[in-house]
Amino acid sequence: MSNFKKNILITGGAGFIGSHVIRLFVKKYPDYRIHNLDSLTYAGNLENLKDIEEAENYHFIKGDIKDAELIDQIFMEHKLDAVIHLAAESHVDRSITNPMEFIYTNIVGTVTLLNVAKKYWSDNWDDKLFYHVSTDEVYGSLGDEGLFTESTPYDPQSPYSASKASSDHFVRAYDNTYGMPVVISNCSNNYGGNQFPEKLIPLFINNIKNNKELPVYGDGKYTRDWLWVVDHARAIDVIFHKGVQGETYNIGGFNEWQNIDLILLLCKIMDNRLGRTEGSSEKLIKYVTDRPGHDRRYAIDAEKIKRELGWEPSVQFEEGLEKTVDWYLENEAWLNNVTSGSYQNYYKQQYG
Ligand code: NAD
Ligand code: DAU
Repeated sequence: MSNFKKNILITGGAGFIGSHVIRLFVKKYPDYRIHNLDSLTYAGNLENLKDIEEAENYHFIKGDIKDAELIDQIFMEHKLDAVIHLAAESHVDRSITNPMEFIYTNIVGTVTLLNVAKKYWSDNWDDKLFYHVSTDEVYGSLGDEGLFTESTPYDPQSPYSASKASSDHFVRAYDNTYGMPVVISNCSNNYGGNQFPEKLIPLFINNIKNNKELPVYGDGKYTRDWLWVVDHARAIDVIFHKGVQGETYNIGGFNEWQNIDLILLLCKIMDNRLGRTEGSSEKLIKYVTDRPGHDRRYAIDAEKIKRELGWEPSVQFEEGLEKTVDWYLENEAWLNNVTSGSYQNYYKQQYG
């Protein structure tokens, strides 16, 4: 019999956001046992969890969310009380070149988890929770005005967002059809340490450091709402504990930036940190062919989680971006490890 108050399965815990969620839960809740299920794709990295890997309440399982037998065994052995599901293929550009992987992991993987959870929990749903972590991209693209609210109709535009939208629908269907206790959150763009350098901010930090071109898609005037990853982890904690079952919560930074403005700020911080003359990193900017189907603008209305659960972002963007730059400069070995090997092939295929 476990001495822990709860056994929680967190999927995708070796990835960017997952590792921050695991760290927060392992440290803040010593009476919860945290089981991290991750198949360690190119985006999963156990180095992200070095500081907590020996903790008594932490347990890593290498495995795939599509592996129904393994999931069944995990539920049986660890008597799970809850799942916080983050494992996914998460990069839009990769979804454009290889959509099938996104269907397998994001849709089939999610439904596999839901099926096993139903098998083990449906005799008594009390105190169980399936928490699905999703994205604001399911709502599609905004014009110059307006914000995504929890009731904005789904309108996904990329294979990635279509696969996430589908997984959200399945989670709601398991609530509606079987009565599974679920909660979903849809978050805007995260930034911070431990993000794989295929996403805008770590890619550009790494390129500036190595004096490589900065490939800006289209006219650079695409807009995103940026949130510090630790604030996302804090929001997940709050929703997990205080969220109302069956509800959706939008999470965002109240922090919209056009890509080019963000890139210019990043260049300025990098010049300062690397002791380069102001304006030198900007010279690396190169406008390149746009991402197909590129969503023009995302912006989240995060009033519901603020009003109902008392969460709001804790870090201002300029401060968070400086901390982020410092993290990548201080963690050179991490950056070198993840950009060796298959990263080179990815880069060549994506950027020529
Ligand atoms: P990531 O790509 O950094 O990490 C994904 C993790 O999932 C990796 O550790 C990977 O090894 C693991 N994984 C992938 N396929 C798996 C499989 N079949 N079985 C087990 N593990 C598998 O992603 P991220 O940016 O940390 O995103 C985490 C979640 O948050 C995703 O569901 C994503 O859709 C969502 N999200 C991300 C953002 C963002 O800005 N990054 C914003 C909103 C929502
Ligand atoms: O909104 C939440 C989503 O944010 C998450 O669900 C996704 O998992 C996450 O990857 C992110 O999606 P984006 O497509 O917005 O992030 P990305 O970092 O790929 O791109 C951010 C913006 O920068 C976007 O407008 C495209 C642009 N961009 C990106 C890259 C990689 C460039 O101009 N050049 C680039 O090389």
